[in-house]
Amino acid sequence: MWWQSAVIYQVYPRSFADANGDGIGDLEGVRSKLGYLRDLGVDAIWLSPFYRSPMIDGGYDVSDHRAVDPMFGTLSDLDGLIADARAHGLRVIVDLVPNHYSTEHPWFVDALAAGPGSPARERFHFRPGDGPPNDWQSIFGGPAWTQVPDGEWYLHLFDSSQPDLNWQNPEVHAEFEAILRFWLDRGVDGFRVDVAHGLVKAAGLPDLGTERTHMFDTSGTPYFDQDGVHEIYRAWRKILDSYPGDRMAVAEAWVPSPERVARYVRPDELHQAFNFDYLTAPLRAADLRRVIDASLAACATVGAPPTWVLGNHDTVRPVTRYGSLGRARAAALLMLALPGSAYVHQGEELGLPEVDLPVEVRRDPALARSGHSRDGCRVPLPWSGAAAPYGFGGAPTWLPQPDAWAGLSVEAQTGDPESTVELYRAALRIRRSSWAGSGALRWLDPPAPEVLAFTREPGLVCVANLGSEPMTLDGRPILASGPLNDDGTLPPDTTAWLAV
Ligand code: GLC
Ligand code: CA
Repeated sequence: MWWQSAVIYQVYPRSFADANGDGIGDLEGVRSKLGYLRDLGVDAIWLSPFYRSPMIDGGYDVSDHRAVDPMFGTLSDLDGLIADARAHGLRVIVDLVPNHYSTEHPWFVDALAAGPGSPARERFHFRPGDGPPNDWQSIFGGPAWTQVPDGEWYLHLFDSSQPDLNWQNPEVHAEFEAILRFWLDRGVDGFRVDVAHGLVKAAGLPDLGTERTHMFDTSGTPYFDQDGVHEIYRAWRKILDSYPGDRMAVAEAWVPSPERVARYVRPDELHQAFNFDYLTAPLRAADLRRVIDASLAACATVGAPPTWVLGNHDTVRPVTRYGSLGRARAAALLMLALPGSAYVHQGEELGLPEVDLPVEVRRDPALARSGHSRDGCRVPLPWSGAAAPYGFGGAPTWLPQPDAWAGLSVEAQTGDPESTVELYRAALRIRRSSWAGSGALRWLDPPAPEVLAFTREPGLVCVANLGSEPMTLDGRPILASGPLNDDGTLPPDTTAWLAV
């Protein structure tokens, strides 16, 4: 199946490419860059939400799940994009946001108008009371409940503009099954399921009892990773399987252990689940080996291939998180040698750093609620030219690009063998021919504790030197994440792929 070893490129449409010059990325912009993505060597793109939305949470606040927001274009632009992607040999997966709607969704507007006790309110979690009905906190900070003028409160695990849907209500199931079919009928290859661990809440909405607000910290919460979510995915799997062409779904599920992650990819559930333990692990041999072994073992128990990820639109860019471009490149080459599928967040292939944006231009609703914002990884991509908007489209761009990005543009990097985009191109080309199979990973005895070395039968050897001393290579490097030393040794913070 195509997705089992696919490299899937995350497009955040608002920041990818702007075709109509308003400073905001759009679907025609994505369409104009499909050649770039094909030549990069990815197999598929995942489009972050382009649905009609007031855009308070970057489109993860959907007000019509069957419509394209005018900011991004039209449904026919999307049809054109899917058709063109196919012609370029690229699959397309789209985001599905089933945990919550926007307060501007007609269902929520109706619920407010219909009043307490109405069936329209049963689609969300409304409760009466003098204060918040329980002690849950929003992931973005502050109480997870907001009061409406008639005195009732509604639940929102995220921003107050994102009321949680009530998945105890069969109408919600029916609606999302229809939404799945709507997009499957339009030809999408699959879905990335937003907050896949959050849909079902524990009966009676019991207090959490402690203060905990982070997406990562989900163990034992009455609102995440409840058994009931798996029933939903079993129903969706049947729908996906009823369509021709290997349709798939990948779960965004921040759950506490690889074993819990594996439950989302049991044979009758979803196909992939992001391995966030890999994303959050320090770039150290022992930590990575532990995470890799644990994920491979957990996936094996359910017969699913693993799914690796270094970043996305919610997390600090790898260059900044790992502390240098060289370390991010080493991490990428290591990830791309692992068995299974890998996701690349747009701009990772350019080595973009997190941008330290001034507070007044930041847009993330998490900022006001928590003091933390995710805007720094969402800055529009630099394509060409010496100054902003670097070929992105119109200016000013919706988030400002740094002055120092000229050297990071696709144009500036293309053809430079030392550049990050050329590293990705080479890596994806080699991966396609040598790593992409199902060959199991076998650890090799490392020459030093801070070195990771493995082979995948029958192909290549991957060696990551995460220590502080150069190391001698036992074989001929066909690709390395950075220059080798003059004596042929592999420097610290460098990964090499070797022919055996
Ligand atoms: C997911 C998205 C994130 C969004 C949140 C609420 O974690 O990746 O961007 O804010 O869900 O929809
Ligand atoms: Ca635009």
